[in-house]
Amino acid sequence: VIDVARKLVAPGFIDMHVHLREPGFEHKENIATGTRSAARGGFTTIACMPNTRPVIDTVDTVNYIKDKAATEGVVRVIPYGCITKNELGRELTDFAALKEAGVIGYTDDGVGVQSAQMMKDAMALAASLGMPIIAHCEDNTLVEGAPVSEGAFAKKHGLKGIPNESEAIHVGRDVLLAEATGVHYHVCHVSTEQSVRLIRHAKQFGIKVTAEVCPHHLVLSDEDIPGLDANWKMNPPLRSPRDVQAVIEGLEDGTIDMIVTDHAPHSEEEKERGMQLAPFGILGFETAFPLLYTKFVLTGKWTLGFLIDRMTAKPADVFGLPYGTLNVGSIADITIVDLENGHEVLKEEIVSRSKNTPFIGWKLQGWPVVTIASGKVVWS
Ligand code: DOR
Ligand code: ZN
Ligand code: ZN
Ligand code: ZN
Repeated sequence: VIDVARKLVAPGFIDMHVHLREPGFEHKENIATGTRSAARGGFTTIACMPNTRPVIDTVDTVNYIKDKAATEGVVRVIPYGCITKNELGRELTDFAALKEAGVIGYTDDGVGVQSAQMMKDAMALAASLGMPIIAHCEDNTLVEGAPVSEGAFAKKHGLKGIPNESEAIHVGRDVLLAEATGVHYHVCHVSTEQSVRLIRHAKQFGIKVTAEVCPHHLVLSDEDIPGLDANWKMNPPLRSPRDVQAVIEGLEDGTIDMIVTDHAPHSEEEKERGMQLAPFGILGFETAFPLLYTKFVLTGKWTLGFLIDRMTAKPADVFGLPYGTLNVGSIADITIVDLENGHEVLKEEIVSRSKNTPFIGWKLQGWPVVTIASGKVVWS
């Protein structure tokens, strides 16, 4: 018996952008630890990125992940296939075979397809299979050696900066290629005002584009970075307050469709290499809902329904998933949330194998207390 008195009962949250690190980087996370971390965050379905080792570019690796998720995972795991073989950006993977194996789309997250011709070929092939392209969007000639966004923080610390155009150039290019090919094109982790503007414009023209935003880009700007601490380093980086306002407005007006975490675990040893040398990425699952509930719902900016919709029904709708709502007869993916009690983010309570989050010590409200995935209690 689960006591839900004074609790919120919501559909299980869906996260369409996560890094589980298995196979190949199990010192950061694996499918067992990553899915438990997801369950603590109230997520019952997660879609994992292919920048593993080997990368998800063959049917064998898709099957490896599906088997591991079925035997060791506690929530539903859906893999993405890599757009190009070995993430090199030179030769397309076997899209039809990967579709057959069960991927939900093709992505360059973690590396970035740089050639317009390669991206156009990928889009045309995906369109012919009725599958989406999911794009990381980064011009790597504009970001070399830069650990943080171009702007106030970079200037103060004498660091090279990642300019907004490095993201928006790809968004602008790719929506034109999406128009030409008719593919469903999905933009990962939108972080700039310019990208929001381009996506809004593309949608007005009827181009099949969708987009996602991460909690950290909705609540933090580069002005919040306390110092040279790599737990504030992620890609795309924290941008200016003006960009934060633009992505909030983009989510509010429907330009940006959904919230994803980009859960990106890295070990403490890796993050201790410092702002310049540490890998990009922060944890996402366990703080996503409490963070957004505290920052946007408790303050009266959003309704609870709006936040839940962008973490459940919306991603389900965009990616054609048969769950994400609570209907009679639907799969029992359910998240029960305590909306009343505040609780600090404590490092020792993090379920993920890694601890790289800037939110330790933050007092948040809206903690998932019970998560049920496919009818089984996976967090309580
Ligand atoms: O912050 C990030 N971390 N951005 C990416 O694009 C990749 C990811 C990772 O794999 O760590
Ligand atoms: Zn990315
Ligand atoms: Zn791109
Ligand atoms: Zn990612």
